[in-house]
Amino acid sequence: KAACASLTPDYMVPVYACQRRTPLQHPNRLFTDALEILSENAEFFESEGRSLAFYKASSVMKALPIRLTSTVDLCGLPCIGEHSQRVIKEILEDGVSSEVEGVLQSERYQAMKVLTSIFGVGVKTADRWYREGIRNFGDILSSGQKLTKEQEAGVKYFKDLSSPVTEEEANSITDTVRKAVASIDTRAKVTITGGFRRGKQRGHDVDLLITHPEEGKEAGLLAQIITILDSQGLLLYYKTKENTYTAPREPPVKPHSTLDRFERCFSVFKLSLPPFRGSQEPVSLSTPLDKTCIATDWKAVRVDLVVSPCSQYAYALLGWTGSQHFERELRRFAGSEKQMALNSHALYDRKQNEFLSASTEEEIFAHLGLPFIPPHERNA
Ligand code: GTP
Ligand code: MN
Ligand code: MN
Repeated sequence: KAACASLTPDYMVPVYACQRRTPLQHPNRLFTDALEILSENAEFFESEGRSLAFYKASSVMKALPIRLTSTVDLCGLPCIGEHSQRVIKEILEDGVSSEVEGVLQSERYQAMKVLTSIFGVGVKTADRWYREGIRNFGDILSSGQKLTKEQEAGVKYFKDLSSPVTEEEANSITDTVRKAVASIDTRAKVTITGGFRRGKQRGHDVDLLITHPEEGKEAGLLAQIITILDSQGLLLYYKTKENTYTAPREPPVKPHSTLDRFERCFSVFKLSLPPFRGSQEPVSLSTPLDKTCIATDWKAVRVDLVVSPCSQYAYALLGWTGSQHFERELRRFAGSEKQMALNSHALYDRKQNEFLSASTEEEIFAHLGLPFIPPHERNA
């Protein structure tokens, strides 16, 4: 620490991720990948605090403009605890962290990684299965587990859903949804959010936010959209949730809750692939019959549809653009530094006892007294 005092770092990293610019590409991947494996492993053991601590350390390093070459460079950086420092030091010295290598080799990590990657399977379910001796995908089928409808879809389309969604595929799905929406109401708007809005070229799903310029006209849209898509045979699975958000009269009760109450649909789309552009794998006995024919080549893709009234659109857009850590930090900043409560519907000022309206993301950052961070720099 004494050595730190004499250093004047070339860069400053603020404490909250929402105060920092975090690009997609950065020079410290070696360290952040390692820390995120430890974070993920802690999550698999349901140690939320430890998981978050490793993630925060990783996130700070993602914002560094230069490659870390010595532990001296860590001086003055926030959120990098003793344990994370030890991991970083080991990587600097040996190129790898023995702890991370150990996690990657562990039966538990490997099993939990596969099981939680199945649509509809969270850490709790995966942990229960693990304790019942389930280790991989095949074990689920042979153990005759009772599956939810969602998990059934997750199992059925496992292979497709584990392969990343490309930007091209995301755009194609967005177009399809836009056409369906336009056939209902030409004024309704579809925006791509999530990782693709942050500039990612690959994602685990496609997140689409739907709104209408006239307040109230968005109600009922989703059901019509689903009817159209379903009649076109494009929905392999879907589950809708009604809007449970009533006009804010009382302040948001749980400002840190990541759940919002918009009308939404979690689905699996059937995306047709252009001829000869499908899976390059040779047809085998395990290939589903309907995939053996080039003419009907398709891929299952996870799609989230969310509907927001236009008065809440800016908050919904900010809330669904992510990253998840960026969102968590925005809420924490609002609560701890500004005595405000933020969620994907609204921002409530606890000092003034009022809701702060916003029609753009820029206005929300301004309400929070934060410099605007564009989507591409929210990859915290
Ligand atoms: P990939 O899909 O893995 O490429 O990354 P992503 O950042 O798009 O992740 P994801 O699709 O899981 O989530 C996109 C954004 O929506 C993230 O900021 C999440 O925090 C947010 N999100 C996901 N589910 C919910 C939800 O139920 N409510 C709210 N408010 N936000 C959610
Ligand atoms: Mn996504
Ligand atoms: Mn999503």
